[in-house]
Amino acid sequence: MKKIAVLTSGGDAPGMNAAIRAIVRTSLNHKIGIIGFRNGFEGIIDNDYVTFDKRSVGNIIQRGGSILHTSRSLRFLEKKYRQVAENNLRALCIDGLIVIGGEGSTKGAIELSKISKTKCVIVPATIDKDMAFVGSTIGFDTAINTALTAIDKIRDTATTANVTHIVEVMGRNCGWLGILAGIGAGAEVTIIPEVRTNITKLAQKIKHQLNTGKKGCIIILAEGGFSKGGTSLANALKEKGNFDLRITTLGHMQRGGSPSAVDRVLATELGVNAVLTLKDGFSDVIIAKPVATIEKVDSNKVVNAKVKVDMYLHDLIENTA
Ligand code: F6P
Repeated sequence: MKKIAVLTSGGDAPGMNAAIRAIVRTSLNHKIGIIGFRNGFEGIIDNDYVTFDKRSVGNIIQRGGSILHTSRSLRFLEKKYRQVAENNLRALCIDGLIVIGGEGSTKGAIELSKISKTKCVIVPATIDKDMAFVGSTIGFDTAINTALTAIDKIRDTATTANVTHIVEVMGRNCGWLGILAGIGAGAEVTIIPEVRTNITKLAQKIKHQLNTGKKGCIIILAEGGFSKGGTSLANALKEKGNFDLRITTLGHMQRGGSPSAVDRVLATELGVNAVLTLKDGFSDVIIAKPVATIEKVDSNKVVNAKVKVDMYLHDLIENTA
């Protein structure tokens, strides 16, 4: 493996820059040349790229967005443009490609792989966490934290003014963002696409809460959770009772901002391992860290053992310096 390329694709997610940094530094530390295509797959088609050195990714680990920019490339859906991309990869002697993105970007990478000599691995990044088997995706944790910061403020006014608020969160067709925002905010109701809403029961539930001393409720509505969104949910509820309702759509603010500690570390782990995976000759794989499960640990065992720090994580600091 002599030269690899990286790109960020699809909806941007906080932590993409941390992943780029880890990939660039690891590549150069292993004497592998590294370039970055701009604007996702569009950059391969247009031969639009930047050649990285170690300093070009300095001071970006804490920055939201992506220094390489992203796109949802419509041209890349066409075979003729994927062939143009492959020709450009050949001309640039790219042995490996790392695609940082979500499900749509993974599909793009799979299609490219069918016609390309370049080995391709994916680093999962999307605020939606809507990819099976891979655990958390880069940006998800930050997006929840951003949503919670906003919802906590809405809770203050909801409780004070005794008003019920519908707060719409993103997530495309997946309820993960809604569920975690709902848990974290202590929402009275959380509506997600995976569960059908019975509006009569929902209205009864909110009435019961308000009649038993609750001062204003928070209803988290995940994108795709109710046909036509928050306004139609509010109208449907108003048909069932005299509710005083307000609607807030958090929207794209959930995609921005400085990545959380969790996302910086995840992006670094996945980025480092993406390079090592290519170096080991793998292709067509997603670098993933599936979520740990709840366990029962013997308390005697814990108090009698010496705690160990994770030296693998400690080594990542060296790898990305
Ligand atoms: O996939 C990330 C995401 O923010 C989704 O939650 C949302 O449905 C979509 O992208 C919005 O896309 P766009 O920015 O293209 O409108």
